[in-house]
Amino acid sequence: MAQKVGIDAISFYTPGAFLDLAVLAKARGVEEAKYKVGLGQDKMGIISPSEDIVTMGLEAAYDIVQGQQSAIDLVLFATESGFDFSKAAGIYLHPLLGLNAQCRVLEVKQACYAATGALQLAVQYVSLNPQKKALVISSDIAWYGFKTPGEVTQGAGAIAMIIAANPKVAVVQPGQFYTESIPDFYRPLGSEVPVVDGKLSIRTYRDIFKKVMPNKPYEYICFHQPFATMANKANEVLPYPVAEEFLTESKILGSIVGNIYNGSLFLSLLSVFMHAKKTLRGKTIGMFSYGSGSIGEFFDVTVQNDHEKAIPFSRIRQVLDDRRALSFGEYERWMNEFSTKERQLNYAVDASYISPKQRFYLKSIEQGHRLYVKR
Ligand code: HMG
Repeated sequence: MAQKVGIDAISFYTPGAFLDLAVLAKARGVEEAKYKVGLGQDKMGIISPSEDIVTMGLEAAYDIVQGQQSAIDLVLFATESGFDFSKAAGIYLHPLLGLNAQCRVLEVKQACYAATGALQLAVQYVSLNPQKKALVISSDIAWYGFKTPGEVTQGAGAIAMIIAANPKVAVVQPGQFYTESIPDFYRPLGSEVPVVDGKLSIRTYRDIFKKVMPNKPYEYICFHQPFATMANKANEVLPYPVAEEFLTESKILGSIVGNIYNGSLFLSLLSVFMHAKKTLRGKTIGMFSYGSGSIGEFFDVTVQNDHEKAIPFSRIRQVLDDRRALSFGEYERWMNEFSTKERQLNYAVDASYISPKQRFYLKSIEQGHRLYVKR
């Protein structure tokens, strides 16, 4: 690939509410240390009934898309939390971002791997069309259901990336990938929660990592992070493991947001950008993407000199700082409402769920079609 292509801008959004896992531990009669130390998770983002994968994708993409609309002619929306089997979620988002009519918009799916697959396909597309840009969005709601083993590994959030030639954030290299059909995690039609074999999923994650892992040292590797200590479990099989201090920097955001499925690997990259104590300019960061079912891919990104100018750090910090802690009762009520909403063809969002901080919100569902409002 002659042209340097990669991530020209990247941003992130998580809903305005979280549940502290100490509160969940108390309610479930589990030792808090199991969640906070054993799994390394502190908080999990909780979706409001006025938000969904489209509003989160909009919030993540809005700032970085401004002024770029005329160059973007491809939108790949990676999600495993889709609510429609025909219309792509990205089509809902397209007018609200002011994108061109001359723009291909597709939804892509393969558990938590789809965003990486979409990124690599977008890089190839831009390599062939260097005057064009692509928008890759990952947006997911990790909801396993009350009192399930996966309940503690929930979360919600979106990552948006603009892919361009001569990118400001990072050049993306082609990866090593491996696919094998495994029944560790899947969500059949009619079920709003996945069928999960947790232990098999951890074993498969590591087995597939071993198929694609590098045999050379890296200062930083970002891992798909369903929970923080999964990164440690993968790191320990490497011939040259990443030093603890660098691994820790890659886990900070994930540990306070939870699993955001497709966006989780890129949240780890943002965590490094936000917490690295040394300059990252010119550094190559390893990235391991895992999507249950299963695909794994290991690839490199090389950080560019201007990366700090192309990441809206203050907005990301504000989104995180503005979050409020839910009581356990609110968590139950919100997630019950989420489940109800996902099953309805007609639904009006109660105004009490709409926060003044949301720039976009879901207003209603009418005959299965969603109506969104941009403030
Ligand atoms: P579990 O079975 O209840 O937990 O659920 P556990 O008993 O294995 O304990 C977890 C850890 O806490 C263990 O550490 C315990 O020892 C430790 P380990 O031995 O593994 O190192 N522990 C404690 N530590 C300190 N103090 C204590 C204490 N008690 C226990 N008092 C499980 C865990 C992850 C299986 C469950 O939450 C689950 O099923 N989650 C969903 C599936 C998942 O996240 N899988 C990860 C790999 S698959 C993946 O990443 C793909 C995915 O993102 C989906 C996609 O691709 O779309 C999930």
